[in-house]
Amino acid sequence: MIVQVNNLTKTYLRHDGYINAVDNLTLDIPKGSFVTITGASGSGKTTLLLILGGLLRPTSGKMFYDGKEIDLHDEDELAKFRSNHVGFVMQSFALIPYLTAVENIMIALNVKNSNKSTIRKRANELLKWVGLEDRTTHYPKELSAGQQQRVAIARALANNPDLLLADEPTGNLDPSLSEEILSILKEINQKHNTTVVMVTHSPMAAEYGNTRIHLNKGKILSD
Ligand SMILES: Nc1ncnc2c1ncn2[C@@H]1O[C@H](COP(=O)(O)OP(=O)(O)OP(=O)(O)O)[C@@H](O)[C@H]1O
Ligand SMILES: [Mg+2]
Repeated sequence: MIVQVNNLTKTYLRHDGYINAVDNLTLDIPKGSFVTITGASGSGKTTLLLILGGLLRPTSGKMFYDGKEIDLHDEDELAKFRSNHVGFVMQSFALIPYLTAVENIMIALNVKNSNKSTIRKRANELLKWVGLEDRTTHYPKELSAGQQQRVAIARALANNPDLLLADEPTGNLDPSLSEEILSILKEINQKHNTTVVMVTHSPMAAEYGNTRIHLNKGKILSD
């Protein structure tokens, strides 16, 4: 197992009272798997994904990475976990508009003692990997939605994450672009053995998973 969570609960205070966005959830994510998470709006998908990536602290429960418990109260440990092991892809791409494609990746690279040309070379390699070698100096607004999402994927891969988390990565794309992005995620999963966890609304996209989870009110309905 790459990640395990035990009895995970995340409680939010809303205007109408408390809600368990994730409700006493236990889940094992096998190394190298492609997990898809579906569920109605508000079922807790994003909340679960943020917790799995160390971006959000659960209210209670335990989390293990590679069999070792992560101290969820230790901000440094969580930050280390994120930067060493996790890559994130969001629905809205979240690229920096005033940086070119290659620069968006360069700033994400964790590189000590590397000169700028080495960093640029690595960023260009990543863009080539997602099929954008001829778009490296374009700004996000000069790229199509599918191309922007590919830049975002290349950025998520910058530090060779073991775990790639994607929140509705095809939510803003039409069906043919969606398939392109899904094939890239599948290729990352199969060629690099990167574990992928993808939240999606689309049953077609969920088919890409070899482990499928359906959430209902913060609980797993089936997998
Ligand atoms: N920061 C917050 N403060 C209060 N309540 C929140 C917060 N974030 C999420 N919630 C609530 O937690 C529940 C789960 O939200 P979450 O965003 O995880 O759902 P989701 O399954 O990702 O939905 P969607 O498909 O619409 O993205 C919802 O009821 C939401 O209103
Ligand atoms: Mg969501």
